[in-house]
Amino acid sequence: MENLLLGSGLVLGAYVLIYYNLIKGSRCRSSRSLKGKTVIITGGNTGIGKTTALDLARRGARIILACRSKERGESAVYDIRRESGNQQVLFLKLDLASLASVRQFADAFLKSEPQLDILINNAGVSSDGATEEGFNLMFGVNHLGHFLLTHLLLERLKRCTPSRIVILASNAYRNGKIDFGALNMPTGGWKQNFQAYCDSKLANILYARELATRLQGTNVTCYAVHPAVLCLAGVVRTELFRYMKLWMKVLVFPIAWLFFRDCTDGAQTSIHCAVQEGIEPFSGRFFANCRVKEVRSHARDDAVAKKLWEVSESMVGLAG
Ligand SMILES: NC(=O)c1ccc[n+]([C@@H]2O[C@H](COP(=O)([O-])OP(=O)(O)OC[C@H]3O[C@@H](n4cnc5c(N)ncnc54)[C@H](OP(=O)(O)O)[C@@H]3O)[C@@H](O)[C@H]2O)c1
Ligand SMILES: *[C@@H]1O[C@H](CO)[C@@H](O)[C@H](O)[C@H]1NC(C)=O
Repeated sequence: MENLLLGSGLVLGAYVLIYYNLIKGSRCRSSRSLKGKTVIITGGNTGIGKTTALDLARRGARIILACRSKERGESAVYDIRRESGNQQVLFLKLDLASLASVRQFADAFLKSEPQLDILINNAGVSSDGATEEGFNLMFGVNHLGHFLLTHLLLERLKRCTPSRIVILASNAYRNGKIDFGALNMPTGGWKQNFQAYCDSKLANILYARELATRLQGTNVTCYAVHPAVLCLAGVVRTELFRYMKLWMKVLVFPIAWLFFRDCTDGAQTSIHCAVQEGIEPFSGRFFANCRVKEVRSHARDDAVAKKLWEVSESMVGLAG
């Protein structure tokens, strides 16, 4: 009996230690107001994006939720308005799996909104499939769609300096590789899907790096973000796992509930990179836990970053 009590006490103590040291993570410390600023958040209707949107709405920003579903987008607008008391939260349709939709979104935004101060490329998928133009869905949505979107909005960002671009990447980049011969391979099965997800997140980091280089001297800065901690708890509890098979969910959910971050904690690094004063010298770098984090050498390869940029330009029809 005593052993049992002692054992449970130890387990509980260890959990509390792990939770506060590794899972909960750092908070964004800036109390900066965003009154008069306009923010776009892609995939802002759920998960990390929605929590980020709520925080920025509380700071007084005008928020455009760029989502693919009108129904889910408007329901998030309703929630965020109610919880923040800020009525300047709007839905504008964007499907990143369609380059035509990206162009329509940018047109509509540029016509109706005079200003853009913060762009948060947050939307992401981890399921297989293809985009409307036939690109691998993860590469297409996580990287290419955002690549075109950012390109189309860049002039506006340059007119609203100092302005920022926050790019949701992931620590999964570690397993990623950029194989220019196979960027667009169809995937299937969890192994290939996992690889394609990691590849797309590596693309996000390389993209941020090259973008920062090209933006030098413009007062537009950009940051790549890993939303969770860099350890066993490296996953945030969101809907990202909604496509899992039932047996995987049964296995994963109890662990997730105990050891994964919730969205408020998971959004802190996105919020930090959107608002924290003084991080401009770290443009192009990777942030985790509200701090700059050195990435492995394959994610610092400027030649690959440059080539990825050029290949992406031609894939989205910008080259020439
Ligand atoms: N969760 C984690 O632990 C974790 C870890 C590392 C990195 N990340 C990254 O963090 C970002 C946010 O992830 P999350 O965990 O918050 O995921 P989530 O809860 O699944 O939310 C993803 C968002 O992206 C949107 N989206 C998906 N496909 C889209 C498309 N074609 N066009 C427009 N929007 C689209 C979704 O819209 P619908 O609601 O319509 O599907 C949803 O709003 C992602 O980039 C993810 O890779 C997450
Ligand atoms: C960037 O900001 C600095 C400091 O505010 C300013 O002096 C400089 O003129 C700006 N540069 C551009 C290109 O806007």
